[in-house]
Amino acid sequence: MYINKLKLKNFRNYEELNLQFNSHKILFIGKNAQGKTNLLEAVYYLSTLDSLKNNSDSELIKWNENYSNISCEIQKFDVNIDLDVIINPPNRKKLKVNGILKNKSSDFISNISTVCFTVNDLLLLRGNPDNRRKWIDNAILQVYPAYSERLTKYNKIKSQKNNYLKNLKGNLNADTSLLDVWNEQLAISASNLTFIRISFLNELEKIVPNKHKLIAANENLSFVYNSSVLNDVFINDKPQFKIEDILQKYKQLLEEKKQEEIIRAQSVIGAHRDDISFFINGIEATKFASQGQQRTIVLSLKLAELELINQKINTNPILLLDDVLAELDDLRQNLLLNAINNNTQTIITSVDTLHFKEEYLKDVEIFEIKNNNVFKFN
Ligand SMILES: Nc1ncnc2c1ncn2[C@@H]1O[C@H](COP(=O)(O)OP(=O)(O)O)[C@@H](O)[C@H]1O
Ligand SMILES: [Mg+2]
Repeated sequence: MYINKLKLKNFRNYEELNLQFNSHKILFIGKNAQGKTNLLEAVYYLSTLDSLKNNSDSELIKWNENYSNISCEIQKFDVNIDLDVIINPPNRKKLKVNGILKNKSSDFISNISTVCFTVNDLLLLRGNPDNRRKWIDNAILQVYPAYSERLTKYNKIKSQKNNYLKNLKGNLNADTSLLDVWNEQLAISASNLTFIRISFLNELEKIVPNKHKLIAANENLSFVYNSSVLNDVFINDKPQFKIEDILQKYKQLLEEKKQEEIIRAQSVIGAHRDDISFFINGIEATKFASQGQQRTIVLSLKLAELELINQKINTNPILLLDDVLAELDDLRQNLLLNAINNNTQTIITSVDTLHFKEEYLKDVEIFEIKNNNVFKFN
């Protein structure tokens, strides 16, 4: 799939922007803080309805304005699709596909898929669990848009349960019968998320070693999904576990932790506490891998994501590379650029063109970003 046009109104530092892309290779160059990442974020937002930087929707709106509008034209197989989102809190955001209003997020994001690779991703292993959950959740959305409603539902149940726990003020003698109702719903919703995330990781795990071995022939990369409901049985016996088993385990743990949750006035059991660990030759990478090894892991993950999405949706997602080339050495840069086949639209941001070989720059459409505006450069 390709993005042919991108239109922004009051998005981040852009008051009004109309871009047309004439190539599958696009490069945005510009000094720091000009709005390069913001442009990629606009495309990322269309495919996730989530910001790149852990911001709320209202922070995406240009300062002192009250709404923001992102729209684009996607070319997918032989059809063109218009996507349009209006962010206007506290109202619900308005999602339109070909001019028709959509109530479900999945009906919107199913039209566009991206793989985004930013400098922050290079810190995926060292970063906090939040970052890893954001990564996997948004990656899943690209192949399984209906996950969006499941995520929203889970977050809603969790926050309602948290409000309820706060109101109990740690009083163990209060009537807590409603807590059982929240726990029942939370268990169902959490087991859904946990099951989908593990299934996704298992699929990725089939592809990732081949990517990783291109750079590190002697290293075997694997990952483990860490969840309070999973024990060794699940981890060592991946194909065997069932969603019903996860559900039962959630129910059991939620029952066991009831008192603790009341005292602490927060949900201590749930998919929002899960994490992912990475291993090289069986040794935990977060603790022991060098910076170079960690970069290789993240690069392999991104290349595997590209391939998995392609397998699932039968077309290449749009690849967004935010300033990462400068962070990679020659070997890894080449691997990344060579891995992008000509059918993958690639949008790259960079301070300048220095990191690109002439060979790559040949068919690239370059835009320069300056003073909140975008100019065609070549
Ligand atoms: N909601 C907003 N309204 C207006 N400007 C914003 C908003 N959010 C971020 N910015 C501005 O965007 C700029 C950063 O843009 P960014 O895309 O990260 O730059 P670059 O990637 O080129 O370094 C900063 O100058 C920041 O002040
Ligand atoms: Mg940037």
